[in-house]
Amino acid sequence: MADAIISLDQVSRVYAMGHVQVPALVDVSLQVNPGEFVAIIGPSGSGKTTMMNILGCLDRPTHGQYLLAGTPVAELDDDGLARLRSLTIGFVFQSYNLLPRTTALDNVATPLLYQGVSRRSSPTSRPATSTATPGPTCWPSSAS
Ligand SMILES: Nc1ncnc2c1ncn2[C@@H]1O[C@H](COP(=O)(O)OP(=O)(O)OP(=O)(O)O)[C@@H](O)[C@H]1O
Ligand SMILES: [Mg+2]
Repeated sequence: MADAIISLDQVSRVYAMGHVQVPALVDVSLQVNPGEFVAIIGPSGSGKTTMMNILGCLDRPTHGQYLLAGTPVAELDDDGLARLRSLTIGFVFQSYNLLPRTTALDNVATPLLYQGVSRRSSPTSRPATSTATPGPTCWPSSAS
């Protein structure tokens, strides 16, 4: 479908380990439309993380085409990938990747800086609302 938010067309990812080529993903085609919820399941080593890294613009396919919101990801450089990622993707990592010396609220707000959202309109300038449970002076280590 033309307006799919995510479109993979025969995407493959081969890792090179010295002389050995490890095909982690082979010819994966997938479309996700706006509003759809999708779960990727499979046994260990089946390529879930590899695929999430590609979907999240942290990695690029070796072959095939990935369109994110209509943008061909393979044509973007690292800055372009980072820009697209910051505007279109919210990633909750298994290991959180929070900044330990930064408050919970500032951790939430940090990606907004990269989107060019000004301090004044950022959530850190307002009383905590949706992040009210931990509060603005709460540190990540005490928020779990
Ligand atoms: N950086 C890498 N270099 C070489 N091979 C890799 C690399 N990352 C993953 N692989 C290999 O690619 C295949 C897919 O790995 P991947 O981590 O994507 O699977 P997974 O489905 O996420 O597994 P798990 O459920 O254990 O997290 C595996 O054979 C793995 O050993
Ligand atoms: Mg994994």
